Amino acid sequence: MNFKIAGTGSATPKLVVSNDDLARVVETDDEWIVTRTGISTRHVLSTETLTELAVTASRRALEAAGVTASELDLIIGATTKHDYQVPALACVVQAELGAPGAPAFDVNFGCTGFVGALDIAARYFETGGATRAVLIICAEALTRYVDWTDRATCVLFGDGAAAVVLTPGSSLLATHIHARGNPDPLHALAPTGNSPYSQNSEEHPYIEMNGREVFKFAVTNLCSDVTKVMEQARVMPEEVDLFLVHQANKRIIEAARERLGQPPEKFPTNIERYGNTSAASIPLLLDELVRAGKIEDDALLACAAFGAGLISGAALIRM
Ligand code: UT7
Repeated sequence: MNFKIAGTGSATPKLVVSNDDLARVVETDDEWIVTRTGISTRHVLSTETLTELAVTASRRALEAAGVTASELDLIIGATTKHDYQVPALACVVQAELGAPGAPAFDVNFGCTGFVGALDIAARYFETGGATRAVLIICAEALTRYVDWTDRATCVLFGDGAAAVVLTPGSSLLATHIHARGNPDPLHALAPTGNSPYSQNSEEHPYIEMNGREVFKFAVTNLCSDVTKVMEQARVMPEEVDLFLVHQANKRIIEAARERLGQPPEKFPTNIERYGNTSAASIPLLLDELVRAGKIEDDALLACAAFGAGLISGAALIRM
């Protein structure tokens, strides 16, 4: 016994920034961005807070699940950075939803946050730590810590929040998480503060990335992680209805799809409209598909992500 996905919800910032808009900020153009990444627009935080989006997404998921906040046994926040350094996003969301008391904490799996949080939630259900419902809230504001003078990174990311409510069930067939700890290819340094007792770094606290290295890691690990969960569950690729893959770059998704020998319609995307929303990427796609009626009851989903860590992971879920 682990869980079933009882409800999904999402929320994105109102401000939509096009590639042409970005061409007025850095030296870039629509053709480069579309050809190299598949991104046309992204939603960027401006007047709203990430907390507001996270709370809206959570309320939508609770409503879809028919679960009240007081029934939550656990809240897991998946984020790399939110409105507060402390407390955890999960605690901030819990305060807004009401009904405190349940444990609430964040995990930082980079862009693999949704898959990592599913893996942890399953263990809570399996060991009796959760018996009624668990909320996973994935919320990211990467546009707040990209360097807006670096065209190689600032065009890639968008902001958003997406949540799922899990209730007891047997939907999770397998998970696999892989870490190759190395900050070099993708990192953002934390600000060092102004302690009079330490040397304060001059290095800038923005996202720095070796795009090509992350690209190779992504394609290799998407394929190997998905293959591992299919093997664990004794499922053939043909039996998987949809592959919900981290929306970081359309070329990465295409390369993985070709290696796995699957047709394009099994790899839905929304990167065109949102860019890379890190941990929120897969649940945002899931929520859109659910609300559009594009996920049948009993559909078999393979979710797979990769990112800072470097971490990657996959989860196989029967809806
Ligand atoms: O969630 C995980 C996070 N990260 C990722 O998934 C990223 C994975 N990597 C990628 O998606 C790709 O590597 C990028 C989209 C980041 C870059 O694509 P690329 O095909 O690897 O391009 P590149 O970095 O090799 O750059 C090619 C050229 C360079 O010019 P030169 O040296 O060939 O003259 C760059 O300066 O493209 C130039 N360039 C740009 N040109 C116009 C880099 N960014 C831009 C830009 N507009 N925004």
